[in-house]
Amino acid sequence: MTSTGGEWDASQLREYPFPLENIPRLDVNDPEVGRCIAQTQPVVITGSKLAEPALKWNLDYLQEHLGQCMFNVFAAKGTGHKFMYYDPKKAANCKDFEPQMHAVDMTFPEFVHRFRTSKPEDSRLYLQQALNDTVGTAIVDDFVNFNWSWVTAQQRTHDWGPLTSNLLLISMEGNVTPAHYDEQENLFAQVQGYKRVIMFPPSQFGCLYPFPVNHPCDRQSQVDFDNPDYEKFPKFRNAKGLQAVVGPGDVIYIPMYWWHHIESLLGGETVSVTFWYKTSRIPQTITYPLSPQQKVCIMRNIEKMLGEALKDPAEIGSLLHTLVQGRYPADTRDFMSPT
Ligand code: OGA
Ligand code: ZN
Repeated sequence: MTSTGGEWDASQLREYPFPLENIPRLDVNDPEVGRCIAQTQPVVITGSKLAEPALKWNLDYLQEHLGQCMFNVFAAKGTGHKFMYYDPKKAANCKDFEPQMHAVDMTFPEFVHRFRTSKPEDSRLYLQQALNDTVGTAIVDDFVNFNWSWVTAQQRTHDWGPLTSNLLLISMEGNVTPAHYDEQENLFAQVQGYKRVIMFPPSQFGCLYPFPVNHPCDRQSQVDFDNPDYEKFPKFRNAKGLQAVVGPGDVIYIPMYWWHHIESLLGGETVSVTFWYKTSRIPQTITYPLSPQQKVCIMRNIEKMLGEALKDPAEIGSLLHTLVQGRYPADTRDFMSPT
């Protein structure tokens, strides 16, 4: 993979033990963009102007205009660089769970002060805050001037549901969001700095070993990409990824249920804005075999149902093993592989 304008170089990319191919990078007017989105295939879209007014959102501008409200900031544990999301409600019921990061609320000036005075190697910060109406008028103006006509056209063409949120992400260089999948469609707009996005299709569910649905780290891979435990997670050897580096003005489509791992490259802070949409309504005709996405959805529902029926998440695994072992051979057909 090469940089488009020499703003980053390959030595900044962390090394991982799986093969990677490039995600296509296409101009917004290329008809192939619509085909990728329709087929839920990732694509980097250039020239959309989706979040163009946010291209000036550096720390100084945001500090001046964001107002004095509180922001959600994550601090990594110790000297760690990984920010693995967890559900605080599920964590409250899970006494042995030790999060790798913790949330701290602070004002924006406080965040900027800590950002500028702590070195990334000492203690890393990552602001992740949904944009809401408490921001100042300059930011509201910028927001109103996003390219809503383009993004709404995508929503309509692909029959997505409503926009649910725009998350503002402000990261220190070198921070990593480990591999996970989300349950919404995401048009991810990069506005400052460079991020590398590694993705795996939903058909690789079996290679990425997500935590159980009732675990606080639901939707996150259990595999540590920096030090994979192949004894515990042998199929991780079969993982094959796709990657892209996104910079200011780029938008990357992260389809629902696609695994993504995101790292901020060196060169100061990175700023991104997500556009998360509910998925499309249930299709009128269902075709078989079901897609890997639909199978992931079924598996999630079964885990949730068992959790409710058994009342104890710790019993789900043994019940599922009892159901399967010796009755349903594992290898006759890998039911996640697309036919
Ligand atoms: C996302 C996401 C993390 C990041 O937009 O879904 O996981 O570090 N972002 O940008
Ligand atoms: Zn995500």
